Amino acid sequence: MNQQRLIARQHPFFSPVALGSTLLLLVVLGIALWQTGGRAFNPGPLSAVAVSQQQSGGFPNHAAFADECTQCHTPFAGLTAAACETCHTLIADQRQQQMGLHGRIDVATCAACHLEHRGADYHLFQAALDQFSSEHHAVLFPLDGAHSDLECVACHENGRYLGSDSACAACHVEPDLHRGLFGVDCAACHTTAAWQPARLTRHIFPLDHGDEGEIPCVACHTDTLTVYTCDACHAPADMADEHEELRLTPVELSACTDCHPTGREKE
Ligand code: HEC
Ligand code: HEC
Ligand code: HEC
Ligand code: HEC
Ligand code: HEC
Ligand code: HEC
Ligand code: HEC
Ligand code: HEC
Ligand code: HEC
Repeated sequence: MNQQRLIARQHPFFSPVALGSTLLLLVVLGIALWQTGGRAFNPGPLSAVAVSQQQSGGFPNHAAFADECTQCHTPFAGLTAAACETCHTLIADQRQQQMGLHGRIDVATCAACHLEHRGADYHLFQAALDQFSSEHHAVLFPLDGAHSDLECVACHENGRYLGSDSACAACHVEPDLHRGLFGVDCAACHTTAAWQPARLTRHIFPLDHGDEGEIPCVACHTDTLTVYTCDACHAPADMADEHEELRLTPVELSACTDCHPTGREKE
């Protein structure tokens, strides 16, 4: 019984019903395309979320130009970074200057990280931030030492990330102790571990001079760290005698490190 019925059935693809409905579908699709200018192939609505109210490119958000497919899709070239960058000029600047996240990560296509057509509620910025990792951050600015336990907002006020300055002096002011004399390249003398002790990477004169262990700072820097004296251990009268053959004026003699930069013999 069953077998007989199967044989009697018509070929499924060439039945008049199948042919008719295929034709109808094509006509409907054609009209849809003609009517919507391509939107029938639109895989979904664009994001209507606006975070910064920047009006990039004169629009408040992506949904506002959802019909203008070529803003993002370049005919024959597809999705190009250049199309995105006509509106996102800050990103373009970062990439040109090789600064910030986008200037230092590999950007083959923007869409590798920024999806679209995920609905009007799709929060492009939050979605991007969710992908951002501590490894990313370490490449840009390691959160070590005293920075490791801070809340993001301590450095990124109002949730702004782009264009953060990584120079220590951008966030820290020189203390009075420096008397404005040490310069603002803080990292030359300090690490993020703590301000004290300073690293003194540029301190040429050894602190363990004279084989008596570490000499306290005040032995040579009686008033400020930028002026030194050796008088505490090398009495001026003795030094005058010691250097008599050299016939130095008192001022010349006082520039001890010109001739003894590390205080060792035969320099
Ligand atoms: C015609 C201008 C324009 C084009 C082209 C454009 N965008 Fe946008 N984009 C905007 C606007 C406007 C916003 C919303 C800005 C805001 O949040 O205030 C936005 C937001 C974003 C955001 C969320 C960050 C933010 O500031 O809110 C990302 C990520 C983004 N766009 C990526 C892209 C990518 C990737 C492309 C290319 C595929 C692209 N955009 C193309 C105008 C544009
Ligand atoms: C704001 C930029 C933007 C606009 C405007 C835009 N798209 Fe897209 N579109 C994308 C991005 C980014 C992808 C790929 C990412 C993904 O898969 O979500 C994509 C993917 C697609 C895809 C899937 C195939 C592919 O290329 O990956 C189609 C089809 C598509 N878009 C059609 C359209 C049509 C049709 C319009 C206009 C009605 C349009 N899009 C407008 C950004 C945009
Ligand atoms: C001690 C300060 C500090 C803290 C805390 C901090 N950041 Fe940053 N962050 C920076 C600095 C500085 C940069 C910029 C580095 C550069 O571009 O040279 C940066 C860059 C970024 C960027 C990249 C911006 C861009 O597009 O170029 C993101 C995203 C970011 N931080 C997210 C976070 C998040 C999330 C947290 C919390 C988990 C956090 N940061 C905590 C200082 C900090
Ligand atoms: C490897 C992944 C990746 C690629 C590729 C990428 N981005 Fe991003 N993008 C991110 C992450 C992560 C963030 C969120 C952190 C931040 O703000 O830097 C982001 C943030 C953004 C923002 C919001 C910045 C802000 O803070 O206001 C815009 C706009 C943006 N991207 C556009 C682009 C454009 C345009 C391209 C292509 C030229 C691109 N992105 C390529 C990962 C990527
Ligand atoms: C983007 C801002 C930012 C940058 C850049 C930055 N810091 Fe900080 N730093 C902070 C914040 C915020 C704190 C916590 C509040 C405070 O103690 O000032 C902090 C704390 C510290 C502390 C601990 C202070 C204390 O009293 O315990 C040290 C040390 C420090 N930073 C050193 C550095 C050094 C060195 C650099 C440069 C390599 C640097 N910071 C760059 C924001 C920054
Ligand atoms: C030429 C080296 C040098 C540079 C550059 C430098 N410092 Fe210092 N800093 C020191 C020394 C030395 C001390 C004293 C350390 C000690 O007492 O152990 C000090 C102490 C400090 C202290 C502790 C002050 C106190 O009152 O306890 C802070 C805070 C500090 N520096 C911040 C900074 C900041 C911010 C910058 C950059 C704007 C900077 N320093 C640049 C050498 C330097
Ligand atoms: C044995 C003598 C001696 C001792 C002890 C000594 N210094 Fe110095 N210091 C010098 C001399 C000499 C110079 C100038 C030449 C040089 O940089 O080595 C100097 C320079 C400096 C400078 C200026 C560096 C610059 O780049 O402007 C700082 C800051 C400083 N000392 C901090 C300290 C601190 C902090 C201590 C204690 C931990 C200390 N010094 C202990 C002899 C000493
Ligand atoms: C113009 C160069 C010059 C100046 C400036 C100078 N010295 Fe000397 N100093 C010498 C010479 C040369 C010798 C003898 C050769 C040697 O032993 O190194 C010497 C010897 C010494 C010695 C004895 C070394 C030994 O082997 O017994 C001491 C200690 C000394 N100097 C300390 C100082 C102090 C402290 C100052 C600053 C008040 C100073 N010098 C300034 C060139 C100088
Ligand atoms: C805390 C005491 C102390 C201070 C401060 C001190 N010295 Fe000395 N210095 C010594 C001692 C101890 C010796 C080894 C005995 C000697 O030769 O007098 C010595 C030796 C020297 C020598 C001879 C080195 C050798 O190998 O023969 C020179 C040069 C010298 N000091 C220069 C200086 C200069 C320049 C300063 C100041 C920047 C200075 N000293 C500060 C204690 C000190």
